[in-house]
Amino acid sequence: MLDKNYVFSEKAVSVFFDANFSKLHDLVDKENSVLITDENIFAKLSEKFSAWKTIVIKAGEQYKNQQAVDDIVRQLIELNADRQTFIVGVGGGVVTDITGYAASIYMRGVKFGFVPTSILAMVDASIGGKNGVDVGVYKNLVGVINHPQFLLYDYSFLEALPKAEWINGFAEIIKHACIKDEKMFQFLQEKSFEYFYSSSRSIGKLIQQNVEIKYNVVVNDERETGERKLLNFGHTIGHAIENTAKLPHGSAISIGMVAACAISEKINGFSKTDTHKVKELISKYHLPVSFDIDKEKTWDILLHDKKKSGKDMNFIVLDSIGKACVKKIPIQELQEIFFSINL
Ligand SMILES: NC(=O)c1ccc[n+]([C@@H]2O[C@H](COP(=O)([O-])OP(=O)(O)OC[C@H]3O[C@@H](n4cnc5c(N)ncnc54)[C@H](O)[C@@H]3O)[C@@H](O)[C@H]2O)c1
Ligand SMILES: [Zn+2]
Repeated sequence: MLDKNYVFSEKAVSVFFDANFSKLHDLVDKENSVLITDENIFAKLSEKFSAWKTIVIKAGEQYKNQQAVDDIVRQLIELNADRQTFIVGVGGGVVTDITGYAASIYMRGVKFGFVPTSILAMVDASIGGKNGVDVGVYKNLVGVINHPQFLLYDYSFLEALPKAEWINGFAEIIKHACIKDEKMFQFLQEKSFEYFYSSSRSIGKLIQQNVEIKYNVVVNDERETGERKLLNFGHTIGHAIENTAKLPHGSAISIGMVAACAISEKINGFSKTDTHKVKELISKYHLPVSFDIDKEKTWDILLHDKKKSGKDMNFIVLDSIGKACVKKIPIQELQEIFFSINL
């Protein structure tokens, strides 16, 4: 049964929550479809792919590049893929980003869908139509905006997802709570990582709520001119930390969110008590709130962040828990605050 139709300006995306992977048979013509997954998922869950033509790519962000796309194109040709071929990305954010991009350029674009298999891909990467690859150190520099035909959620994939990746995904869930949903923030405070980790029903519900949050933000601002920027909460400083400290994305943006709370206190009247609550929640979900970072180096990278415009930087701050806004901060002021906060 179809749960939701997410209508974007160019396309309606059919979303199936709490579905079974076998539903794919109803959605696409097996004979003229190609699945794309990565080697980790394929190794753990090979039986899921036995009925399907499958392209297996290397796992990891370091392989999210044009070379991977070229390899996919070559294999699509070998598989006689034509304009009617349907491509399905079954994987984490790396697989869905690459699949959406490869499908959008193969023969100038063929239809595609996603079966997200990591928490991060389920609540974040597979929603919103951004697809692409990295070019050297430049993340997501090349790509397209194009939505999949469908999103198929089968939570049983999460049983194979390593615990560290579960934790990583919770950073984005906490981000959504901070910027958009005080109630969900409180619910996360009451529950625990272990509660969701041990119950497919509760993680399913939480994921669905998070998909709604991201969809609502994106649909109001598909080309990222305003509202969608809020999704960068914790990410400006977080990305710089990810780069210098070589931390996993979820850990780096957790520290980035703590920094953004401290900045919100200084320039936006966000309360100290609320910063404390955010820190407590991050820790409760086994994510770090501080790290011995090289501030000079981190600041240098931050300055090169693509969100910088002239003398000011657009920075996402919190008004209160569940409410965020974009503030233009003079770089000079941001620098002073950044060096004054404890991380
Ligand atoms: N397009 C967007 O709007 C958007 C938004 C956020 C993030 N992203 C992108 O998403 C990527 C990060 O996504 P990710 O954290 O899912 O990374 P990922 O795809 O690398 O997956 C993380 C790890 O988990 C493994 N894995 C995934 N699902 C599994 C499963 N069910 N069982 C066993 N192993 C599994 C993968 O093989 C990988 O080793 C980044 O490249 C980021 O740029 C894109
Ligand atoms: Zn993120």
